[in-house]
Amino acid sequence: MESARVTCFFVDKQDGELVRSIQQHPVDSLPEGEVLLEVHFSAVNYKDALAAEGHPGVALGLPLVPGIDAVGRVVESRSERCAVGDEVMVSGADFGTRSWGGWSTLARVPGAYCFVLPEGLTARESVILGTAGFTAAQSVERLQHHGVEADSGPVLVTGATGGVGSFAVKLLGQLGYQVVAVTGKLDQVDWLKNLGATRVLSREEVSDDSNRPLLSGKWAGAVDTVGGDILETTLRSTRPGGCVTACGLVAGSQLNTTVYPFILRGISLQGIDSANASVEFRQRLWTRLATDLKLQGLEDLAVNVSLADVESSVLAILAGKVRGRHVVEVAS
Ligand SMILES: NC(=O)c1ccc[n+]([C@@H]2O[C@H](COP(=O)([O-])OP(=O)(O)OC[C@H]3O[C@@H](n4cnc5c(N)ncnc54)[C@H](OP(=O)(O)O)[C@@H]3O)[C@@H](O)[C@H]2O)c1
Repeated sequence: MESARVTCFFVDKQDGELVRSIQQHPVDSLPEGEVLLEVHFSAVNYKDALAAEGHPGVALGLPLVPGIDAVGRVVESRSERCAVGDEVMVSGADFGTRSWGGWSTLARVPGAYCFVLPEGLTARESVILGTAGFTAAQSVERLQHHGVEADSGPVLVTGATGGVGSFAVKLLGQLGYQVVAVTGKLDQVDWLKNLGATRVLSREEVSDDSNRPLLSGKWAGAVDTVGGDILETTLRSTRPGGCVTACGLVAGSQLNTTVYPFILRGISLQGIDSANASVEFRQRLWTRLATDLKLQGLEDLAVNVSLADVESSVLAILAGKVRGRHVVEVAS
């Protein structure tokens, strides 16, 4: 492997300007790590798009190769977590945000970042799900832990055509929940209903700018992927005892709220953090995604892109125009 070269999507700064390019580097330039992986697939998450923009809260150091998800074959291993020839998934911690990520034909990572794909999930299925599917599953599991069951009442999903949102709609729909999908893409109503939504609302219908501390209680629970005013209205519109999960900030990172939903309705707001989930937690939830939470028809959510196409996927995701998941076919 010493003489091999790595092709990657490279983000750097030159004379104060951000520069993105496809580059080739010697394999020796990869960071230290016990496992060398031949990357077959990666994905374009919203976080990757922010990393490609050099966002200081996400790209924790430049130069950077983004790609917070990677699936591929182990070609060298000094880790007991995986052996040469294993198909593994890498995601979480600082993969693709500080350390060299998955938009690269080879990646060298700490063994702790890898886990062998569970039986019942192919490499393609795993990368289509990726961080988005894992985050949606974590959100749904959290609702269940807080007593929001399929017969509790309508559950709102915001950012519904996005990666996390579309998996949340699909997962909740498959589990028999009444799913109310919120989208800015009203031409995607049929797509969302096919995915599992019972009803589809526009973003405007779930944003209230009155100062009323509480609105009529409509939702038994919610999976919020956007934050900002929509999350704030959702908190005021959730029924007594309900639960809202929050994972995202595409609509804004500010949350202007009062304590009333918490002290007069006893609702809970649950934060979701996938990057720092322990290896044991990942292994358990991925096993569920391969068994009782296994989603059918995953290919319908995937759009394939090559490393050379990643630039246009980044721009589309930042403009909120992506539906489902962009899967990077790294080897192509
Ligand atoms: N905390 C965690 O562990 C974790 C893990 C994964 C993702 N995330 C976060 O979750 C969010 C979603 O991630 P993703 O990868 O699913 O992103 P994505 O695929 O880009 O989906 C985001 C969706 O949000 C909606 N949207 C876009 N701009 C909006 C705006 N200005 N106002 C309201 N809605 C808007 C769009 O859906 P519609 O057009 O259907 O409304 C868009 O497709 C991101 O903020 C990401 O950073 C967090």
